[in-house]
Amino acid sequence: ASSGDGGAGGRRSRRVLMFPLPFQGHITPMLQLADVLRSHGGFDVTIFQSAVNDADRPARHPAAAAAGYRFVTVGAGVAAALAETVPSKGTNSDFAGIILRMNELLRAPFEDSLREVLAEDAGGDDTPAPPCLVVDSTLRGMQEVASRLGVPTLSLRTGGAACLVAYMAVPELSDKGVLPPPSRDPLQLDMPLTELPPLRLRDMLFSATSTHATMAACFECIIESIRCSSGVIFNTFDDLESSELQKIAGGLSVAVYAIGPLHKISAGLESSLLTQDRSCLEWLDNLEAESVLYVSFGSLASMDADELLETAWGLANSRVPFLWVIRPNSVVQGSGSQQEQVSLPDGFEEATRGRGMVVSWAPQQDVLRHRAVGGFWTHNGWNSTLESICDGVPMMCRPQFADQMINARYVEEVWKVGFQLEGKLERGVIQAAATKLLRMEEGREMRRRAKHFKDRAAVSTENGGSTKAAISMLVDLIKSL
Ligand code: UDX
Repeated sequence: ASSGDGGAGGRRSRRVLMFPLPFQGHITPMLQLADVLRSHGGFDVTIFQSAVNDADRPARHPAAAAAGYRFVTVGAGVAAALAETVPSKGTNSDFAGIILRMNELLRAPFEDSLREVLAEDAGGDDTPAPPCLVVDSTLRGMQEVASRLGVPTLSLRTGGAACLVAYMAVPELSDKGVLPPPSRDPLQLDMPLTELPPLRLRDMLFSATSTHATMAACFECIIESIRCSSGVIFNTFDDLESSELQKIAGGLSVAVYAIGPLHKISAGLESSLLTQDRSCLEWLDNLEAESVLYVSFGSLASMDADELLETAWGLANSRVPFLWVIRPNSVVQGSGSQQEQVSLPDGFEEATRGRGMVVSWAPQQDVLRHRAVGGFWTHNGWNSTLESICDGVPMMCRPQFADQMINARYVEEVWKVGFQLEGKLERGVIQAAATKLLRMEEGREMRRRAKHFKDRAAVSTENGGSTKAAISMLVDLIKSL
């Protein structure tokens, strides 16, 4: 445990409680934030983890437990019901419905766990200052429980600020009849949204299987959660999204703390749910600077067997060196079942020998930071997008659901550090895109712009920088709650 006084005189450190949504893209930034709060504020940190997905974390992450982080498992009694909420259809999962259901299932067990944790602090000579809870912005139910028990809350929004601005506009777009789209006609979906430039109607679709009502309810839950908190924390930085951050502060009347890029300021507490294959870093050591395309679609997105085939031949035909992550269970067969082991087409290995490597999970942040990597083919989850920008790596974008389309649109149209691959995924399109990104002037121009943001991100974390200042204000706020 830490030894800081947490601003509470002679008492023990203020305890910060944290509750991430139990998916990789949400756990990682929460644990990074834990590290930042501990090192900058001297807070003790207790992390609630739901009995799904990451339930064996302390056993698998002895370093985190040894470093003094405490993990409390919530919902062991409803583990079977929770397991049903794990996205099982890859990209076609009803993500909005999953979030709402998880809120329902976790509310009562969380109340029990929180009461127990609060009871531990009561009495004794070294009673710590009352704790506060940093909760993932999707877990509105947990925030309501905490408020009812008198625990102040802060909201962690793990997506970008632009995405939240778009979600804030959904009630107005629904009232106007713009959403849900009257049809899935591609021409109509390409319609620009005058309320949210440069977004188009198609960028707001969230998921192919979530209904508009479920999606709107999910966004309402996020927005209410932020509105009812003492402040919202973003893993972004001012120079990237300043006008969006201002819109949120004004629109929701809430204190906003942009303290990203978190992966550049935290000590790298182990947070990966899958084992990272580090041998790819040695492989990259032997390749030329900025020559390699890194291909990965995060922890949830999937592709079908046909897309796998097109991707394989697109990469092979491009002649560009590549490192490709094919996650277990990420290829969906025609029957809807997922294959743990994926077979690549005959001839692919020979065609790419010496310039291609396939792994099942990579140490992504180290890969993007490697001098050999010159481009990233990504699904544009927010962590991947930010990690790429902050290491000056331009992107080819293939967003699939949730915030990914919004992020990809900003990459292409606002930051101009990449371009989208739209329409059917075909080998010729992939080959041309990889060549453009790695070998042509257009790609080099995008890389120069990405490097500009990399420099701005670095400046933001130094003394006098916006991120450094926001962390200090956040620590003061937590001490004052
Ligand atoms: C999810 C949503 O899909 C995304 O849209 C939302 O913004 C966050 O939650 P995910 O799809 O997993 O996240 O994508 P992303 O946000 O990019 O997070 C993936 C994380 O896994 C990154 O931090 C990345 O570094 C890590 N990763 C990915 C690895 O460590 N190894 C890999 O091989 C691939």
